[in-house]
Amino acid sequence: MPERISDAPWLFWLLEGLHRTQTGLLQLLYVLGLVAEVDGQPAWPWAQRMAGENLLLDLGLARQLLWSLVALALAVVLLLLACGWRRGRPWLLLGALAAVLLAPWPAPQLLLAPAMPSSFHRNPLPFSDAAIVQGAGHYQRLCLHCHGAAGNGQGVDAARQPVWPPSFVGPLLWRRADGELLHAVRHGLQDREGRQTMPGFAEQLTLEQSWALLHFLRAQAAGELLRVSGNWGQPVALPDMPLRCHRPDKQQVSDWQGQRLRLASTPHPQDLLPDPRMVTLWLPPPGMAVRAIPEQVDCVVTSGTVAQQALGWVQAGSNETLGNVQLLADKAGWLRARNNRDAGSWSDEDLLCRTTDSKEEEAAAAEDALTRILRRMDAEPLGYVRGGRVHR
Ligand code: HEC
Repeated sequence: MPERISDAPWLFWLLEGLHRTQTGLLQLLYVLGLVAEVDGQPAWPWAQRMAGENLLLDLGLARQLLWSLVALALAVVLLLLACGWRRGRPWLLLGALAAVLLAPWPAPQLLLAPAMPSSFHRNPLPFSDAAIVQGAGHYQRLCLHCHGAAGNGQGVDAARQPVWPPSFVGPLLWRRADGELLHAVRHGLQDREGRQTMPGFAEQLTLEQSWALLHFLRAQAAGELLRVSGNWGQPVALPDMPLRCHRPDKQQVSDWQGQRLRLASTPHPQDLLPDPRMVTLWLPPPGMAVRAIPEQVDCVVTSGTVAQQALGWVQAGSNETLGNVQLLADKAGWLRARNNRDAGSWSDEDLLCRTTDSKEEEAAAAEDALTRILRRMDAEPLGYVRGGRVHR
């Protein structure tokens, strides 16, 4: 299954096209005043939506849809031609009809999935250290006793629920669209008979708190996945954090979009070797007073324990402080590699989020491991899918 769709690039465009068509239509209805707002964003008015996730699971179905759309486009072109060319008109009309009739239309029930008013909502908060830490607090207060400290569904009250709470330590949170998770958290979940399986929390959480909680869920799940499997099996971004940099126009991590980033958590920034291939962000240990930005680094992270805790979640599934760790993010901001040996030397095993498992790279032994990691980060961008929509 191409969960990462590098194997079928055309699928990216098909999914993106379907998504844009639907959000564009929703926006148009909203501007025309035909749909209301729910939870701060335009409400999807239908009970169903296109199921991008099914196309992803079934390449054959996706191909059928693609050919049908091509046939439809052809029919439209023939109809337009028929308007202008009287003598050829019967043939053109016949051709258009044939294109529509002969197209391999997929069964509609395979293309549609149940929708809710917030299906197309997007998380309006940046994925930041502050949001993750805020979300962690709400999780511990409201969710932990069912979903468990590690998010694996092993809370103390789990066994007493009508169905067992799912584990987040897997693809679940990445399969769902943001807005559908939001709906579950705010309005709860029901089984087929309409009995409540999870309570809703719209009374206890503001909208903003709910969105922060969703950022936390993914941060924790990514870190826990890394801890138990040794890989970031699902993509996770380097959280946005406030910075103080030599360059005054750079004030947070997101200002560096498009550059490779190295985040170094160490008490000794003077030992870091400058590397022109990436921007170096220094995360000082908790409680250390930083007066000047050291020469060897580009920026200092200024959010202290908040940054420490947020990074603890994404790389260990807990809010423990980091110790000597270096993290690498690619040009799109995804975390790709980690080195937690004190020595600071890199090995191929440190590439923790990869799209292929090819070993052919090892042939190029003349390069050092860090160079190979950087090259693979650039050569294998992540194109992954969330709720049937591709993000990259
Ligand atoms: C009383 C126990 C309980 C509490 C408290 C609870 N959950 Fe759940 N949660 C469940 C159960 C049970 C399910 C599975 C329900 C189902 O599949 O029908 C679930 C499912 C979920 C899902 C999966 C939704 C999906 O689309 O499959 C998410 C996300 C979730 N919970 C988040 C939260 C968050 C966030 C909180 C805290 C605000 C929370 N839960 C609090 C019991 C609980």
